[in-house]
Amino acid sequence: MAIDLAVVPVAGRGTRMLPLTKSQPKEMLPVGRRPVVQYVVEELAASGIRRMLFITGPGKTAIENHFDFDNELITHLRETGGERFLEEMPELRFQRENLEYFYTRQRRQLGLGHAVLCARAMVGNQPFVVALGDSIIGLHAESDIVRRMVERFERDRADAVICFEEVLPQEVSRYGIAKPRGTAGDVFQLDDVVEKPTPDQAPSSLAIAARYVCSPVIFDILADTPPGAGGEIQFTDALRRLIQQGGKVLGMRLAPDVRRYDIGGFESYFRAFTEFVISDPQLGQAMRKHLSDLLERYGPA
Ligand code: UTP
Repeated sequence: MAIDLAVVPVAGRGTRMLPLTKSQPKEMLPVGRRPVVQYVVEELAASGIRRMLFITGPGKTAIENHFDFDNELITHLRETGGERFLEEMPELRFQRENLEYFYTRQRRQLGLGHAVLCARAMVGNQPFVVALGDSIIGLHAESDIVRRMVERFERDRADAVICFEEVLPQEVSRYGIAKPRGTAGDVFQLDDVVEKPTPDQAPSSLAIAARYVCSPVIFDILADTPPGAGGEIQFTDALRRLIQQGGKVLGMRLAPDVRRYDIGGFESYFRAFTEFVISDPQLGQAMRKHLSDLLERYGPA
């Protein structure tokens, strides 16, 4: 049976985006017309994922509310001529696609690896997708990378497939970087993943890009992974150990015209917001005009 379950960790503190994230989850920040996590769900649904398991934490109830039925609001829109807004309501959009939502809490923020481990009791012994709730793949979430990763995982009987994005050499020190076996084509076998290397030590410029497909063997490894960088249980450390144990771990590249939009820090958030706004189907042209007027006033960079 094809994989139709995704674990979506959304429990992080979001300290790099304070004070924006003091009382609202970073995963609910707007990027153009939608909150980040809605794009994540849209992308997953378009790739055939039907069951979303969110790993939530303190202060994250806005995410549950966002996907819940708000009957009062729906009735209000119907009674007051606001039908056109109904199309945008996530609960109605996703009802048509039979999506199911599940929530469990990460009680202490011990890192991404620990957040994934919190899914164990609900996932059990089946393969699953991990999609970070603070990252959008593709402009307006138009990407079928998860579908392709799942197909490859099943076809090659892999233990994990990790998504990678080509980044600039000076950016490698911010990411987990692939050490491919041989020359890396669109899909490649991994020999290692190196966390935040310096540019001269980086084995490639392929950075882990927020989407994974994993066999449930990862849970045993995560349960046995000690805290690493920042005192957190790192998901990358568990994937490394999977490779070291002889697991078949593949990398898959995003197409060069598909970007990963990381809503984890202000610079990448501002970039994402700007691009989504200037490419908005209704207001994009007006916003581009506004931007060029602003650039005239402020002068070029
Ligand atoms: P980050 O690595 O950006 O960490 O999380 P963070 O804690 O959210 O942010 P900072 O470092 O404090 O600014 C990547 C994804 O993993 C989730 C986050 O919610 C985000 O979607 N995450 C991270 C968890 O679910 N639990 C954790 O303990 C850490």
